[in-house]
Amino acid sequence: MTTTILEVRRISRRFGGLVALHDLSFNVSRGEIVGLIGPNGAGKTTAFNVITGTQPPTAGKVIFQGKDISGGPPSRVVVDGLARTFQSTSTYPDLTVAGNIYRGMLSHISGSLVGLLVGRCDRGISMERVSDEIDRILRMTGLQPWRDALAGNLPYGVQKILGIAVALAASPKMLLLDEPAAGLNHEECKGLTTLLRRLRDEHGLTLLLVEHHMALVMELCHRIVVLVQGEKIAEGTPEEIRQNEAVIEAYLGAPEYAHA
Ligand SMILES: Nc1ncnc2c1ncn2[C@@H]1O[C@H](COP(=O)(O)OP(=O)(O)O)[C@@H](O)[C@H]1O
Ligand SMILES: [Mg+2]
Repeated sequence: MTTTILEVRRISRRFGGLVALHDLSFNVSRGEIVGLIGPNGAGKTTAFNVITGTQPPTAGKVIFQGKDISGGPPSRVVVDGLARTFQSTSTYPDLTVAGNIYRGMLSHISGSLVGLLVGRCDRGISMERVSDEIDRILRMTGLQPWRDALAGNLPYGVQKILGIAVALAASPKMLLLDEPAAGLNHEECKGLTTLLRRLRDEHGLTLLLVEHHMALVMELCHRIVVLVQGEKIAEGTPEEIRQNEAVIEAYLGAPEYAHA
């Protein structure tokens, strides 16, 4: 039996006259890895922004673990257990890897304090446990060797992993990843695939992933949602999506994906 962790219910998002997302619905089950794919400008990042409360939906609702989280604020959504990474690297270059992870924890703790003040949160982290917690995140992500390195000096692939580590510092139940493989070489992609699978298999995380790297998406995802011009045109298993005529025409048929 599967239980739904995230329900995206008929969300739309307009920017002036531009409809970036139209009537998008899909569910994610606990422990699932779901891919959100589509051409540039399809609305994938906008969907992430709406789901994580960065931008309110023009219409529709986002339900996470049974709670209506539509409209955020993002700090509240993180405390509720839904964290994200960003399309561009968003770490602090002048802080160490451990320092960046600490900042990720702080955003969680401060969110929790706000939560405690309004009496709706029971997940504060005591300061004594901070160092242990940083070590735990470093082990989870394989970043131990880089603990004291400045983020700005890290190879690009390691910076991307650090973005994931910072999101994990908030102890999420579900992680949204915006193009985690962008700019990675073949070896780094393999490492990322292994990491994401481990986060799901060993740490019980649910993942929603925006990605153009089709081999990675097809290998990793249990289910895929396809967006084109703000609308969902298909949803299914990797095999179903690979064979879907509308998807091939709108997206996968492009030369760069022909061998995916
Ligand atoms: N803050 C914004 N203001 C105006 N238009 C936006 C904004 N964010 C995104 N858009 C537009 O919405 C559409 C979807 O963008 P986006 O969600 O970034 O697509 P994707 O991530 O799939 O490439 C694009 O046409 C983009 O230009
Ligand atoms: Mg995007």
